[in-house]
Amino acid sequence: MNASLLEVRDVAKSYGAVTALKRASFSVRSGEVVALAGDNGAGKSTLIKILSGSISADSGEVRFAGEPVSIGSPNDAARLGIQTVYQDLALCDNLDVVDNIFLGREPRGPWWRGFRVRRPRMERLTADALASVGIRIQRVDVPMGHLSGGQRQCVAVCRAILGDPKVVILDEPTAALGVAQRREVLDLIVRLRDQGRGVILISHDLVDILKVADRIVVLRLGETVADKPGAEWTEHTLVSAITGATAGEQR
Ligand SMILES: Nc1ncnc2c1ncn2[C@@H]1O[C@H](COP(=O)(O)OP(=O)(O)OP(=O)(O)O)[C@@H](O)[C@H]1O
Ligand SMILES: [Mg+2]
Repeated sequence: MNASLLEVRDVAKSYGAVTALKRASFSVRSGEVVALAGDNGAGKSTLIKILSGSISADSGEVRFAGEPVSIGSPNDAARLGIQTVYQDLALCDNLDVVDNIFLGREPRGPWWRGFRVRRPRMERLTADALASVGIRIQRVDVPMGHLSGGQRQCVAVCRAILGDPKVVILDEPTAALGVAQRREVLDLIVRLRDQGRGVILISHDLVDILKVADRIVVLRLGETVADKPGAEWTEHTLVSAITGATAGEQR
């Protein structure tokens, strides 16, 4: 049986008097899409921030490939092979696709050539990276601001997978996208899984979640309240788990 790649056990986190997480647990395997569902304030983003190294947990355990790890910074997360695509994407609209994908880590030539950025190499690597996940963007030298929402999301994902991470975390990747663009991003998620990566998907869109998730974990008030294979959920049972409605209240 395929063991967990990344595992979170009983993680807790408070912001002053606010308890954001109290007993959050879940895991993801390679080649698996796990959706984190939960209402506003359930603790999803807090959990992701802990896994991406931007905040630290008060207690609990995170294991990577079976070993306990401490993720103290985004660099620690990257070293382990965990990459996060945040909702705001953090793309630069005035730069082109290639520059956005390499932002801050451009390959450079040797000192005797003045450490010049190796643009042809960047273009080649960009084309390879886009092709590896089946993204079609006609030209990679157009400013980011000219691309559609779905294409922007795909470029952000492409940037995240450049270092070949084992786990990709996507925070609301389909929010604010049209029908066709949403499809594109969902297809991309499936391809990341088929490449053997573990994918953690945060979304408020239950239809999307039900479409692509192999497993759905529900957080409520900072606690994991359900964790089941995607096929065992319906929109109805998912809404009940998210809101905490008991069987008697369901209609
Ligand atoms: N920096 C912070 N300072 C104080 N409280 C915070 C902070 N960040 C989050 N919280 C609180 O922690 C709880 C969990 O928030 P979190 O952002 O993790 O929820 P979420 O599940 O991502 O919600 P949403 O679906 O709205 O994005 C909320 O009650 C929130 O108000
Ligand atoms: Mg959030």
